[in-house]
Amino acid sequence: MTKNYIDGNWVPSASGQTFENRNPANTDDSIGVYQQSNARDVDVAIAAAAKAYESWRLVPAPLRAEILFKAAQIIVARKEEFAREMTREMGKVLNETRGDVQEAIDMTYYMAGEGRRMFGQTVPSELRNKFAMSIRQPLGVCSIITPWNFPMAIPSWKIMPALVCGNTVVFKPSSNTPQSALNFVNVLIEAGVPKGVVNMVTGDAEVGTAMTTDPRVSVVSFTGSTTVGRQVNQAAAPTFKKVHLEMGGKNVVMIMDDANLELAVDGCLWGGFGTTGQRCTAASRVVVHEKVYRQFVDAFVGRAKALVVGDGLDPKVDVGPSNSETQLQTVMRYVKIGQDEGATLALGGHRLERGAYGKGFFHEPTIFTDVAPRMRIAGEEIFGPVVSVIPCKSLEEAIAIGNGVEYGLSASIYTQDINRAFQAMRDLYTGIFYVNAPTIGAEVHLPFGGTKNTGNGHREAGVAALEVFSEWKSVYIDFSGKLQRAQIDVEQV
Ligand code: UN1
Repeated sequence: MTKNYIDGNWVPSASGQTFENRNPANTDDSIGVYQQSNARDVDVAIAAAAKAYESWRLVPAPLRAEILFKAAQIIVARKEEFAREMTREMGKVLNETRGDVQEAIDMTYYMAGEGRRMFGQTVPSELRNKFAMSIRQPLGVCSIITPWNFPMAIPSWKIMPALVCGNTVVFKPSSNTPQSALNFVNVLIEAGVPKGVVNMVTGDAEVGTAMTTDPRVSVVSFTGSTTVGRQVNQAAAPTFKKVHLEMGGKNVVMIMDDANLELAVDGCLWGGFGTTGQRCTAASRVVVHEKVYRQFVDAFVGRAKALVVGDGLDPKVDVGPSNSETQLQTVMRYVKIGQDEGATLALGGHRLERGAYGKGFFHEPTIFTDVAPRMRIAGEEIFGPVVSVIPCKSLEEAIAIGNGVEYGLSASIYTQDINRAFQAMRDLYTGIFYVNAPTIGAEVHLPFGGTKNTGNGHREAGVAALEVFSEWKSVYIDFSGKLQRAQIDVEQV
């Protein structure tokens, strides 16, 4: 049985309750048993984090960074082991879990580098013999709440910048992927993160509520659904926490009549069915110029038909299971909605249940064509292997369709025309944009996040992450030895 990690110790929950996590490709395979924690556990974890903050904030940032650097090296050494365990608990294919672990490595090295930068500003003072600068300071205890689709990458996006800036952490991973979280915490312990600096509490809503309402918490960083994100924001508002939210997406690939269609098909397969469509960045909408619409649809459906669905540990498999029965039920509900709305079901549409499929949450890769932008399958996040293909007449129409949803995470265009590419880049109101590539594939050293109902103005990754996990202090040092009044003692040349 796995325990919570609080103040440097592995401890059971005060609730006395546990939950079991099973492999979504084969529910006979038990991954482990974890603590079903409650608000009392969170209380103790926050107290530990608040106490540890007193000394962690004073550890020089380059020294904090060295611990992170060590953590990255440990993850490198265990990459394969972590990836295999992640496929077992989360479902996505091994190549992709290797990518997930790699993204954690990249972020950890990147943030280790920040320990020697964390640049502020030095500016001239308007007065003589006065010095002016700004420095980044940590905020305190950070509540980190992460989803199951990137079980190691997303915790690293949040925890590594939090730590390098000098904050301490209470971490609640998704109950569908506690094992990868545990592996990650073990790395931090082995790398030398002092007790109380990172605390992990597993569980569900009660844990999340305590983490978002406790007055000792200064920052909440959450990745998950827009519905829960809104609750998090409301819960954190009375105590004025800094809240970073990363929520849903309904990302568009726009394919123009001059596009390299083969490349576009490759991109749509990878963007739509990679991670079984369970990415916030998934290419779940494809808007295609009418001149190449038929040709694209035939090629896309033909290639998707050949995708192999199965256990992600099998190297022949392209698409793993949905992560849970609930997730699969959502997929099936939307397939029905799409059919009821009058879209053409061009491929798939069924749960896979025969033979070994019966033990998991498998669904056929599914493509709807002749989708109208107003349909629910064209506007709502499904988070599964379902792609909606929408015809359009022009770039302008594609952009309008692209922008016509409540989300704004990622968008992409396939075209050979640089003018069209730049126009689309400028006019798509999203946080991420790609040219001649699908909507997935962000790298850790640029900001990641979105507009509208995808986010609340913050970005993670890159230097943008430092904005979430530090705040500015402006510092003035007067070395004139006399009172100098800003704006009043105006200097004459
Ligand atoms: C997510 O979809 O939740 O850009 C994160 C990508 C990955 C991260 C996705 N690097 O698709």
